[in-house]
Amino acid sequence: MRKLEAKTLVNSTGGEISREIFVDREIYRQELETVFARAWLFVGHESQIPNPGDFFVSRMGEESVILCRDKQGEVHVFLNSCRHRGMKVCRYEQGNTSLFTCPYHSWSYTTEGKLQGVPQYRNLYEGSLERDQWSLIEVARLKRYKGTVWATWDKDAPEWDAYMGKALIHLDQVLDCRDGRPGGSEVIGVHKWIVPSNWKFASENFLGDSYHNPSHRSVDLIGIGPGSKAGTTGRRNDGALEQAEHIWVSFPEGHGVHSAIAPESNEYGDSFLTDPEIEAYFREAHEKRKAALGDTARLLGFTGTVFPNTSYHARQPRGLCVWHPHSPTETEAWRFFLVDADAPEAVKDYLRHYYMRYSGPAGMTEQDDAENWLYATNASTGTIAKRYPFNYAQSQGKFVKDGPYGGDVSYQMTEQNARNYYERWASYMDGGDWGELLGQKQ
Ligand code: FES
Ligand SMILES: [Fe+2]
Repeated sequence: MRKLEAKTLVNSTGGEISREIFVDREIYRQELETVFARAWLFVGHESQIPNPGDFFVSRMGEESVILCRDKQGEVHVFLNSCRHRGMKVCRYEQGNTSLFTCPYHSWSYTTEGKLQGVPQYRNLYEGSLERDQWSLIEVARLKRYKGTVWATWDKDAPEWDAYMGKALIHLDQVLDCRDGRPGGSEVIGVHKWIVPSNWKFASENFLGDSYHNPSHRSVDLIGIGPGSKAGTTGRRNDGALEQAEHIWVSFPEGHGVHSAIAPESNEYGDSFLTDPEIEAYFREAHEKRKAALGDTARLLGFTGTVFPNTSYHARQPRGLCVWHPHSPTETEAWRFFLVDADAPEAVKDYLRHYYMRYSGPAGMTEQDDAENWLYATNASTGTIAKRYPFNYAQSQGKFVKDGPYGGDVSYQMTEQNARNYYERWASYMDGGDWGELLGQKQ
């Protein structure tokens, strides 16, 4: 296997990136080893496993993992693979159990991951199988943060907080209650679907590709947003974002966000005009947040990607998106929809309907994106097409180094976040140490 120099494929200063990184099988295999087996990955949300014995089957890279709450209430993430011959020990998407019993030869594991039951143990294994040596394989590190659960296979990975760096204040905008209380969100559903595209197209899009707005023109004209009514259009109707100054921020760890800063007055902007009850809820939440957080309430999240494959929409439709790789040209998209856990049922129900209009395989906005990523992937496999790099020259050099809000800040639409993301991707691919992966060595 040739040793690939990823840096040669990513010429971020020249604003060019090779199409190979989106289609090449060898590059993809290397990504699984160097990116997905090392980076901190989002696995799920604690609201999906509130009780002892609850589990939610997730993925890390290509591999199936079980997010589980054990009898004592501790949270674990296990590889969903039996230690005997590798069969999945859990074939459900979620549920509650006291044991994971392998369907093949019935070895069974506790919710702490311990191998408990081995059929005919006394006859067949006594003296040759130490049960406590054959637990389910557990991630090296796990982090719980405001309900979210993250994990890494790399025991040498830095603390999750260091990995997130200053991008954390932007991620908070997704996870915190609308009235500014920290955390307090719950997942009300997960959409899962397959997109015939490389996973990085989706991650990159959420770094802040506002340039692609025209591709959603038909949805905007129809007006599927929560504020839509006669005379207004859009796929989201977020009054606060409309009044705000938009910023694009890139971080040394590879993350990138598109956020916004509300004017000093930070007035509520009409957003849910089709339903007075929902509008009243959000208006009140806005006022409470402003009173609680003061000037910091002016930071509004919009979209972002936590390196490598966890993205978000911070406001409309609020949720986390994970782009699970299946192959160089296939991605499984998961959207975890978030609401304030203590919001009235009417608010949750209203948002659920909006989320379905917007997202998933039948959602009107997501179809546009999937189509773009599909053709971009397909077109990159062409013999001739592959010879020509993509252009990433937008707003070259137009950012404030170490600006406010945590990173390099651009006040205009930019591909700086993407250039920064792929530079960090290349560091992972080329086997950089953690100092380099956190952007502490240039
Ligand atoms: S593969 Fe699980 S018991 Fe044999
Ligand atoms: Fe889009």
